Amino acid sequence: MGGANWPSSCRNGTCRTCIGKLESGQVRYELEWPGLSAEEKTEGYALPCVAYPCSDIVISPG
Ligand code: FES
Repeated sequence: MGGANWPSSCRNGTCRTCIGKLESGQVRYELEWPGLSAEEKTEGYALPCVAYPCSDIVISPG
């Protein structure tokens, strides 16, 4: 996370410690299904530990 002091624990997309809300930009996942519900994804939540930014992103702690 660009040197930011972001909380994380498992780093594999399951514990959700690192969850945050995308304010702008888009991310993609290498995982089939990171530990997010479809609804959370629609609302813009992301798990930065396993997310790859597709553009410049702004994310705030969830
Ligand atoms: S650190 Fe566990 S889901 Fe991101």
